[in-house]
Amino acid sequence: MLLVERWQVESICLKTSLDLVLSSLQQRSSVQPLPQIVLKLPFDLPLVQADGEGLMEVLTKLLDNACKFTNPDGTVTIRAQVLNPETELVTWATFQNQPKHKKMLEVIIADTGRGIEPSLLETIFERFYQEEGFLRRTIGGTGLGLAICRQIIQRLGGKIWAVSAGKNQGSEFHFTLPIAVPIEDKQKS
Ligand SMILES: Nc1ncnc2c1ncn2[C@@H]1O[C@H](COP(=O)(O)OP(=O)(O)O)[C@@H](O)[C@H]1O
Ligand SMILES: [Mg+2]
Repeated sequence: MLLVERWQVESICLKTSLDLVLSSLQQRSSVQPLPQIVLKLPFDLPLVQADGEGLMEVLTKLLDNACKFTNPDGTVTIRAQVLNPETELVTWATFQNQPKHKKMLEVIIADTGRGIEPSLLETIFERFYQEEGFLRRTIGGTGLGLAICRQIIQRLGGKIWAVSAGKNQGSEFHFTLPIAVPIEDKQKS
């Protein structure tokens, strides 16, 4: 897979990656018209430590899915927040296996679309899983997208998971990435 070659982890601006992904999604999307896409990023969004192409691939696949499984009158919202491992009790599980001092950024892509049965929230990350099965599909895809996203995010030291209250209740895809350490802080340590 793409992961082996040209993998370069550096300080990346999520907003810049999102702008690129969104403009190419709008140009080449198989779903037309697209649902409304809303960006709700904090003004002081920190840089993340990631491979630029890997991050763009994850964003492309998650946004592709969100648009594919949401009607044109629905909404896709992109949010991000800095996690504090000491106070974030709800998402604390995402820090297991993480060095405790590493600050993480959580990115959330939420849609108002067809939703996911709670019992399938982990299964969808398996390779080739598609709810309708390949032959019954009316919309394209290979069932590999989420498996690839998980592989990329884990390799970058983050976690990825899905949240949904069930059928027709919308879905949220969350992932975490380490926040880049500013150069001044690196020099101090
Ligand atoms: N935003 C979403 N809303 C509802 N279901 C989703 C969403 N994203 C993924 N899924 C479910 O997870 C399955 C696997 O997704 P993915 O690995 O990207 O494969 P593909 O997009 O090729 O079907 C999808 O077929 C769908 O059943
Ligand atoms: Mg997909």
